[in-house]
Order: sequence, then C-alpha cells, then structure tokens
Amino acid sequence: MKRIAVFTSGGDAPGMNAAIRAVVRSGWANGLEVIGIRGGYQGMIEGDFVLMGPRDVANTLQRGGTILLTARSKEFMTPEGRARAAENLKKAGIDGVIAIGGNGTYAGAAKLLAEHQIPIVGAPGTIDNDLYGTDYTIGFDTAVNTALDAIDRIRDTAASHSRVFFIEVMGRHAGFIALEVGIAGGAEVVVIPEIPTDAQACAEVINKSAEKGKRSSIVVVAEGGYEGGAEQLAKDVQQYSGFEGRVTILGHIQRGGSPTARDRVLASRLGAACVEALLSGASGVAIGEVNDEIRLTPFKEAIEKRKDINRKKYELAKVLSL
Ligand code: F6P
Repeated sequence: MKRIAVFTSGGDAPGMNAAIRAVVRSGWANGLEVIGIRGGYQGMIEGDFVLMGPRDVANTLQRGGTILLTARSKEFMTPEGRARAAENLKKAGIDGVIAIGGNGTYAGAAKLLAEHQIPIVGAPGTIDNDLYGTDYTIGFDTAVNTALDAIDRIRDTAASHSRVFFIEVMGRHAGFIALEVGIAGGAEVVVIPEIPTDAQACAEVINKSAEKGKRSSIVVVAEGGYEGGAEQLAKDVQQYSGFEGRVTILGHIQRGGSPTARDRVLASRLGAACVEALLSGASGVAIGEVNDEIRLTPFKEAIEKRKDINRKKYELAKVLSL
C-alpha cells in the first residue's frame, strides 16, 4: 500500500479535522502518501483530490467543521455515480480509502467496496452518537457541551420568569444528545425517540414539579422524540398545564465550534487506527472505540445494528428531577 485517501461525508462534526490530521500524519509516518478528497462522495465523483502533507493539517486540531468539506451526494447513490468515483480513485493510484462520517457514509463505503473492490474503512464522525461499534462518535461530546452551555443560559431566564422551556436538541432518530444534556443540565423531562412520552405525561411531571415548589422547568426534546418536535409538544402540553411555555430549537449551533479534548483525543486515536487497519489488510470495517480499546466492526453490522441508549441513565434523569 503506497497511497491512501481520506474524506469526510454527511453532517460535519467537531473533531473531524483532528481525525483528518491523524490520518495524514500517521499515514506519512508509515511511509504512505495521503490524498484528501474534497466534498465527500461528490468530490470523489468529480475527482476533487488534493495531496496532503503533514504541514497541510497544521493548526486544524482545534478547528470545528471539516477542512475537506462535506456533502450529502445524491449522485453517489446511483451505480453510475459510484462507478465514476471508483474510476477516479483507481486513476489516482489510491490503494485504500478512509471514510469519516455517519451511517450513510458507511453505507456508501460498503457499496464502493462490494461493487468496485476498493479497500475502505470508516471512522464514526457524527454528533448523533448513533453508530453501533463505538461507545462514542467524533463530535458527540462537543455537541453535548455546546447544547449544555445553551441550556444553562436558558435555565437562568426560565428561573427568572417562572417559565417552562422546551429545548429541542439534534440527534436525528436517536436520543443520545438529549439524554446526556438532560442529565447534565438537570432537565425536569427528557423526551427521546427510544422511550416515547405523551404530552399528558409530560404535563403531569411539570405540574407535580410546580406543586413541589419548582418555579420553572426545562424539557429537553430530542428532534426525533416527539411528532412535530418541541414546538408541537409545547402546544400539546399547554392543554394540561397552566404554565407559560417557551420553545428554543438549538439547531446547527450544535454542529459547530472547537472540539472538546475528548473529541480531539477520540478523533486522533480513530484516525491513526484507520491507517493501521488499512496497512494490516483490513477493509469493509468501521473503526470504533469500545471500553477504551480500538474495535473493528464489519460495515454491515455497524449499519444495521442499533446502539441503544443507556436506560439506567434515563431513569437517573427522572429520579434527579425530583
Ligand atoms: O447527523 C447530524 C445531524 O445534525 C442530525 O442531528 C440532524 O438531524 C441532521 O444532521 C441535520 O442535517 P442537515 O444539516 O442536512 O440539515
């Protein structure tokens, strides 16, 4: 193996640059040339390749976003698009590829391997933490801390006005971010897709909190946790509760910003492990970290298996909102 390529795909996540840096530097340390593919799978189709030396990733460790840019390519979902991408990789003499992204990125990588026999491994880059085969994904810890900072601020105004706030956090179909910030931010209610809640049950908790002397409440809602999101939940809860509610949707603010130390270390480890995996002949696998050890999981498993939330944490969130 002489030349490898790296790209980021899907939603950006803080720490992706740390992973790219680790791939580039450990690649060169192992005598490999490293090519960056700009713009995810779309860049692969368009042949947007750039040679990356160790100095090209200087001062990127602390930066959010992705220096290689990202996209959600529709063209790559077609066999023709993938064939063009594979042809470009072969023309550029690329012997192995490292894909950094989420579930959709892994699915694309698995197809590229199956249809065109291009060695490829993946690293989990998504704020959602919804990937099987790793305890945490790159970007999750930063997103949690960004959301938590916002929740702490909202708590100040909620307490001052005796209001109920419904705060919607990202996570797509998973409640990892919501559960984590729910506990860390002392939320009265956490609404996540894994454990459905209805408006009446939510209102009951808020009403009981008021009876117990709480003057304000925070309801953290995962974006997939309630049909219609936090806006709808706030409206529905209003029917059963006399409180004045306010809604804040944190949105893409959770995707940006400088990665936390945890994300930088995780991304650095996983990026280097991807290079090692390719060098050892591995392909078709997602590289994760489980119990502080590097773990290789076949793409099929990483794509199809669902990582469950820790239900004990959910119960803890309830107990602590007493
Ligand atoms: O997967 C990351 C994520 O931020 C999800 O939490 C969210 O549902 C989605 O991406 C938003 O996607 P987009 O940036 O394309 O609107």
